[in-house]
Amino acid sequence: MVHESFQTVKGQINWDHPMYRLYEKAKRNGRWNPADIDFSQDKEDYNRLHLEERISILPLISSFSAGEEAVTLDILPMIHVMARLGWLEDTMFLTTFLHDEAKHTEMFSRWQQAVGVFDIDLSVFHSDSYKRIFYEALPESMERLYTDDSPEAIIRAATVYNMIVEGVLAESGYYSFRQIFKKAGLFPGILQGIDYLNMDEGRHIQFGIYTIQRLVVGHDDRFRLFHEYMDELWEHAFGVVNYLINLAEEQQKLATAPTILEFHPDMMRDYAVKQFEIRKSKIDRVKKYDSLSELEAALGS
Ligand code: MN
Ligand code: FE2
Repeated sequence: MVHESFQTVKGQINWDHPMYRLYEKAKRNGRWNPADIDFSQDKEDYNRLHLEERISILPLISSFSAGEEAVTLDILPMIHVMARLGWLEDTMFLTTFLHDEAKHTEMFSRWQQAVGVFDIDLSVFHSDSYKRIFYEALPESMERLYTDDSPEAIIRAATVYNMIVEGVLAESGYYSFRQIFKKAGLFPGILQGIDYLNMDEGRHIQFGIYTIQRLVVGHDDRFRLFHEYMDELWEHAFGVVNYLINLAEEQQKLATAPTILEFHPDMMRDYAVKQFEIRKSKIDRVKKYDSLSELEAALGS
C-alpha cells in the first residue's frame, strides 16, 4: 500500500470528529496505573476466605483475566484496518484503546499475584460457550480485518468485540463483582480497579457503537447483518453468564460452612439480557437517518 495523500497537510485533524473527541477524553480520563493500586487488603481478605469461597470466585477471575488478554491481543487488526482506510481520528483513538486493554490485563494479573492465586490452571473454568467467543469468534472476526476492509467485516468485528465481549460480558462482569464483593466488604483494591476499567470500557463501547452506526446507516442489509450476528452470538454470551451463575449456585449448595458471598442469579441473568437489549437499541437509533451525512450532522461532527 502507498499513501496518496495526508489529511494534516490539506487541512487539519477534524477536532469535532466523535472519535477525536473520544481520544481527548481517553487522554484525560485514562491516566491511571494498575501498579499504583494497593492490593494488600485484598490479600488479607482472600486469605481469610475459606477454600470453598475462594474456589467460588475463581471462575469470574479466570473469565476476566483471559478475556482482557484476548482483547489486548486481538485489537490490532481493527487499528490496522482503520489506518488502511485512512481514518485518522479513529486510528488516533485506538492508540489509547490498546493501551487501556494492556492495563486491564496487567491489573488482573497483578491481583492474582498479590493475593496468591498460585498453581491452579484457571482455564478449567472456561465453558464451551466461553471458548466459542474468546478462543474462536473474537480472533476470527478480528483477524479477518487484515485482508478484508468491507463494511460487513468491520461490523462483524465490532459486534463481537465491542457489543458482545465488552458491552454484554464485561459490563455484566463488573456488575457481578460489585454485587458480590462490595456487599461483602471485600477486595477494595480490585473494586477500585473495576471502577477504572468500567470507565475505559465506556469509551470502547462508544467506539463500537459509532463504528457500527456509521456503517449501517442507510443500509438495511447491514442492519440485518448486525442483528443476525448479535442473535447468533447471544446464545454463547448468555451461555457464558449462565455457566458462571450455575457454578456459583452449585458451590453454594455444596458449601459446608456459611459464606459472606452472596450471589443473586436472577438479577445477574436479567442484567445480561438488559445489556444485550441496550446495545441493539443504540444501533437502532440511527434508523431515523437516511445517510451518513445526516448522522454526522446530528452528532455535530
Ligand atoms: Mn478491558
Ligand atoms: Fe475494552
